[in-house]
Amino acid sequence: MAKLTDIAWNEFEALPLEAKRPYLANPDLPNTPYHTLFAQQFDRDLLERLAALANRIRFMAKSKEGALYLKSLLPHKRAMLYFSQPSSRTFLSHLAACQILGLTWGSVRDAATSSEFKGESREDSIRTFSSYFDMIIMRTPEKGLAEQMAWELSNSDRPIPIINAGSGKDQHPTQALLDIYTLLRSFETKGGLRNRTVTFCGDLLRGRTVRSLSYLLTNFENIRQVFVAPPELQVPDDVLAILREKGVQYAISGNLREAVSLSDAVYMTRIQDEWDQSKGESARIDTHLFKFGAEELKLLPPDGIIMHPLPRRDEIATCCDRDPRAMYWRQMRNGMWIRSALIAMTFGFEKQIMCFGA
Ligand code: CP
Repeated sequence: MAKLTDIAWNEFEALPLEAKRPYLANPDLPNTPYHTLFAQQFDRDLLERLAALANRIRFMAKSKEGALYLKSLLPHKRAMLYFSQPSSRTFLSHLAACQILGLTWGSVRDAATSSEFKGESREDSIRTFSSYFDMIIMRTPEKGLAEQMAWELSNSDRPIPIINAGSGKDQHPTQALLDIYTLLRSFETKGGLRNRTVTFCGDLLRGRTVRSLSYLLTNFENIRQVFVAPPELQVPDDVLAILREKGVQYAISGNLREAVSLSDAVYMTRIQDEWDQSKGESARIDTHLFKFGAEELKLLPPDGIIMHPLPRRDEIATCCDRDPRAMYWRQMRNGMWIRSALIAMTFGFEKQIMCFGA
């Protein structure tokens, strides 16, 4: 059994992502994550178990009896939500997930209000959280920080799990989980998530949700991926290299309307100008062909769906919001259920929840 305590940080850091997976697993439970850091930790079995657990939690939460049972599971655990980058959905849905499962929680939403402001290192701050909490859910602008902290904590005298709630331009694994959950639910009675075309549109260069979801989709049979963006914001080659390695069909395009007419799901993203290297860099890119509006809605097949990790700006016109194929509001709520499932699973409660009422 691979353990983070048996490998030096520089050796672990240098491993390919898929090779890191066994080091991040719960040694006491089969195919169950302990730290959740990137999409490469999730295979088909784990994704389907998480979706089933999320469905179960969703159903149980509807009744007082079920909700009270869920709340009784983790009152002895505390979660720290450390978000040093802005967030609405990821922060609130993790917080709601904690409440559903009875965890108490604390938060830091601005490093300037913690002792980092007095010069404490990020590493020391996070080690401090582990003195008071039993899980850290963290969003940071730094690629790799969640991974390094997972290694540090596992090698400390108070190891606790870390969930990556978005790291730099790199990964957003729990967003990809809720996206997969949404796709599974959307196609559940329509032949399932196989033999589908998923189109990604917008800022594919800097959108971390795209990198994580593109990988997770490789777990499903015959999912063709189409990347539609202005040339300056096209999907980076490391994402495509994985698709080539796995034999996944993909296409690069600049034509959103054509792609929409051939898609089962269209995943819109906003321009991520917070990553601009010079003032006005993104504003100089012509993005007018990469927006979804009334014309695109007419072209979308009747069973097609529109997704967006949100927040949006103007890349989906509000006139699309009431169309039954607009899935982004349901997608957002799905985040609360799948994050509840992930937290419950991380603390070893999968079987107990699945057996409730049996
Ligand atoms: N999708 C997403 O990560 O949204 P927030 O930035 O609001 O958390």
